[in-house]
This record gives sequence, structure tokens and C-alpha cells, in this order.
Amino acid sequence: MNCPQDWPEPIVRVQSLSENGVIPDRYIKPMAERPSSDHPTHANIPIIDFQPLLSSSSDDSDVALRAATLAKISEACREWGFFQIVNHGLSPELMDRSQKIWRDFFHLPMEMKQAYANSPKTYEGYGSRLGIEKGAILDWSDYYFLHFLPFCLKDYNKWPSIPDGREVIDEYGREVVKLCGTLLKALSLNLGLKEDFLQNKFGGQDIGACLRVNFYPKCPQPDLTLGLSSHSDPGGMTLLLCDEHVAGLQVRKDNSWITVKPAPHAFIVNIGDQIQVLSNAMYKSVEHRVIVNPAKERLSLAFFYNPKSDIPIEPAKELVTADRPALYPPKTFDEYRLYIRLRGPKGKSQVDSLKCLRG
Ligand code: OGA
Ligand code: NI
Repeated sequence: MNCPQDWPEPIVRVQSLSENGVIPDRYIKPMAERPSSDHPTHANIPIIDFQPLLSSSSDDSDVALRAATLAKISEACREWGFFQIVNHGLSPELMDRSQKIWRDFFHLPMEMKQAYANSPKTYEGYGSRLGIEKGAILDWSDYYFLHFLPFCLKDYNKWPSIPDGREVIDEYGREVVKLCGTLLKALSLNLGLKEDFLQNKFGGQDIGACLRVNFYPKCPQPDLTLGLSSHSDPGGMTLLLCDEHVAGLQVRKDNSWITVKPAPHAFIVNIGDQIQVLSNAMYKSVEHRVIVNPAKERLSLAFFYNPKSDIPIEPAKELVTADRPALYPPKTFDEYRLYIRLRGPKGKSQVDSLKCLRG
């Protein structure tokens, strides 16, 4: 099955609505989904210094630091499915320049952005909705989606043309791919597997890597809507770079929503559905959503590190035992991601519905 060539109804850019006093009905969420401000909480997802994992020194103290860092990551993966890393090797300048390039893009005149308008066929380019259900309630955001890997999908013609943009976006992609490789090693070791285990299951060097830049315009009625509805990320792992000064990301913890306070120049790392499947639910992808702000726009760069799209992903044999049988049947990522591309963000309904039924 494929996604259709066209959206079911004309696309409205959320950015073009943000100066009005009220939001159109299409963005008003049912009561139960609206953000509520009655759960103020001071919790934050763990912040982990990643530096020890970038060194390979065999000094006793470095070995001990590496073990301690792995233990922190292990706990964060189990407790939260989300954590922030600092001292991860990407230069703050590159992170700042990347955010600036994308801010510049969203501030271009509308006619220039429209040249990159996307379709549900591949989602590449400038978009304003996820899912193709006619009449669906929409999220308060616009976005830009592009591919880095596999190489055959990388197409500069589908990248925006902004001064220095291509070089900066390219360098950002290379550096984040490298960091994701190091993170997958840490996760593999923490699962009790060889360090190259997850990378190999993802397809070795043939992985998928893509970027969705989310732009959340300011919103006159932020209590009625969401910037991005609750979802878990369908892919392998996500590295999010977001605005230090405008909070918005909320992570589900038990039955409440925790608003993440981003550390300066941190990446927010989260487990996607494919790692939940490969790890046979030792690690779970966690639901998250985005709230919007009445006074400030917000920008985030979500980098998705995914398995090669045509290999079947299933629970690793090493993690399947008599006590813990395989929870999910094999499915390729190509097939898997159609769900969110057709239906839009729907909590954890996809990965939950996959569960093998056992009588
Ligand atoms: C996403 C996502 C969060 C954010 O793009 O999948 O969850 O803060 N983004 O923009
Ligand atoms: Ni997400």
C-alpha cells in the first residue's frame, strides 16, 4: 500500500493563522486531549553527561566513568524512555547555526516556502499536517521533512535553498548520525548484547536518517489545542534539538504529562517503536506531545534514526525466552510507518495493536 499523491483538502499554513484572535474549529481538540495546567510538577527527564562515552581510554577512572554513564542511560531508558545528553560532541556553534537556518526558512515569505510544499506520497518538503483523514482535527504546527540516508533518498532539490543552508544541514546530519551510532552501542551493551548488535539489526550502514523540523507558531488560544498530538515515534531512536527558551515538549510519566526543561545545547533522546519491538519491550517507546504558547513561537529539530526500511524488524532472538516470548510479529519499517502517515499521531495505538495475541 502507498500513500496518495494529494492531501484530502486544501492545506492551510498554521503560521498564516497565528495573528488572528481565535483559532479555527479544526484545531480545537476534544476536552480530554486538551492540555491542562492543573498538574504543575517539578520533575524533569534525566540529564546525562555523555562525554565519558566519547573516549576510549583504558584508564581505570575512565572505565569506571563509562560504566557509570551506561548505568544512567540504562535507568533512563527503563524509567522514562527519554533523557537529555550534554557534552555529546556536537559543537554548540553547529547547533546554533542549524537552528538559525531553519528559523530563517520559516521566516521566508510564504510564496517562497510554498515552492517546497509536500504531499503525503513521501512527506518530503514543507508540510502542515500528518495523516490524510478528511475532516481530521489538526495540530498547531507546520514542519519541514527531509532525508539524509539512505543516500539514494537524499535529494538536494527537496531541501530548501537558504544561504549556507545545505552545508550546515549536511554537517548537522553527518554529526548526528555519528552520535546515534554511539548511542546505539550504549543501548546494545545495556541490553546485555554486543555493542554493534542494534546497529546490525538496523541494517548496518544502510540505515535511514531523516529530519523533521517542527515550527510551532504562537497561538491565541493555547489551552484548546496541541502543537503535536500525543504519539510515540515510529522509528528507531529520535534526537531532538529544541528551543532552550520556549518549553513545549511534554512526556507521559504514568498518568501525567511532564513538561521537559531543555538544558542548553542538549539533545533530547527518545526510544522509538522499532527499539521497543527489537528489545521485546525491555525498552518502551514513550508517548509525548507538544503544547503551544500564546506569546512565543517555537522551533525543534527532530532527527529520526531508523532501521533500513525493507528488512523485517522483530524481537531479537537473544531477548526472547520461554518466560518472555516474542511480543511482536516481524514487520518492515516501510510497512510500519504507513500507519502514522495515513492516520496521523494516535498515542501508542500502533505498537500496542501489534502485540501477538496469545491464547
Ligand atoms: C516529533 C516530536 C517534539 C517537539 O517531531 O516527533 O515529538 O518538541 N517533536 O517538537
Ligand atoms: Ni515525537
